[in-house]
Amino acid sequence: MITDIYRFNFGGNVCTVEIGMSLKGLNALRRVPVSAKDTLYVYDDNTEGLFAGDIEKITGREEESAAVRVVIDHGEEHKSWESVNRILEKAVESDFGRDCTFMGIGGGVLTDLVAFASSVYMRGSGLILVPTTLLSMVDASIGGKTGFNYHGYKNLIGTFYPAEKVCIAIETLESLPENEFNAGIAEVIKTAMLGDEELFGMLEREKKRLLGRDGELLKEIVGRCVIFKGRLVEEDLRERGKRAFLNLGHTFAHALESSVNFKGILHGEAVAWGLLKALELGAQLNITDYSYMERVKNLLLDYGFPLKYDSIKPARLISAMYGDKKKRKGNLRFILQRSIGDNLIEEGISEELLNRVLSG
Ligand SMILES: NC(=O)c1ccc[n+]([C@@H]2O[C@H](COP(=O)([O-])OP(=O)(O)OC[C@H]3O[C@@H](n4cnc5c(N)ncnc54)[C@H](O)[C@@H]3O)[C@@H](O)[C@H]2O)c1
Repeated sequence: MITDIYRFNFGGNVCTVEIGMSLKGLNALRRVPVSAKDTLYVYDDNTEGLFAGDIEKITGREEESAAVRVVIDHGEEHKSWESVNRILEKAVESDFGRDCTFMGIGGGVLTDLVAFASSVYMRGSGLILVPTTLLSMVDASIGGKTGFNYHGYKNLIGTFYPAEKVCIAIETLESLPENEFNAGIAEVIKTAMLGDEELFGMLEREKKRLLGRDGELLKEIVGRCVIFKGRLVEEDLRERGKRAFLNLGHTFAHALESSVNFKGILHGEAVAWGLLKALELGAQLNITDYSYMERVKNLLLDYGFPLKYDSIKPARLISAMYGDKKKRKGNLRFILQRSIGDNLIEEGISEELLNRVLSG
């Protein structure tokens, strides 16, 4: 089975991304250096049951019991210091030295947490990520942003620490619940909007195959997203310029997620809503092409995203946005688009305008 291999240089750190159909087929996994106790396997309570035996065998631990493993609770509400602490404690208890490797197997919550823990353990351990949700394959595991939520603020604590290897096996998506799989499509749509028109067309044409989780199609889509994000991050690891485009829809999405205390709305669902709000804001400012906005809206609706959250008041969302801004001592910034691939950053949006967009 052919695997695709991409190499990126993220701020001087080489990151190899291998995309194949099966876990067994990934060379990057089989070549993990194994000595008696050098790898800390981190799962959440869903991914452990699904992958622990396989991953540990593939990476050379015939005896599963010999693996040093941490299992954290799944869910955005556990993207917390407590979870990071559990990972670090396990590494300390196990006498892991600086040359150890942390391997995170799971969705974006898990990979962000493990990458953060890895970045601070003895000033940086080895890091391998095995993303197992569509969202983490196309976005979270690529590009080195790590972190966890703190005092109600999304990803308030974090570092930039790219993984050495990202091992993507499309087969791991088979067990993903439908809502989680579909939520990942939001970040794929975002990538297409930011600059891959062919991908956008593919999403419009191939809905049935994509929702049917056709392996070849998924491999192509994941590959396109990895290349798009990887190239952008190569230019701007620390988000001083173009990388910020990847936040399209995210100022809105993070406000929505924090307004519901990270419960009940998936990150991808919030992103889908945020993408439309960003275009609506652009349209209000006569920046966004109306027919492009309608095209995106139709695509989001076609994939079944709930694009209305009427029970959450605009004032609540605006206060979440400003609270976040204040904490980060930055300006409230919105990524807007004129049309597909034509992106810009806007600051100084009035509260009144935001209120209008959020009331729509
Ligand atoms: N670092 C970045 O650049 C970046 C980018 C985008 C998103 N993110 C972060 O990613 C997070 C969202 O990630 P997510 O959508 O993957 O959510 P998630 O990590 O919560 O995973 C979703 C759910 O699916 C389960 N799961 C994972 N893989 C599975 C599988 N193969 N089969 C069955 N169940 C499985 C998980 O246990 C969890 O319950 C957010 O915290 C977001 O901030 C980070």
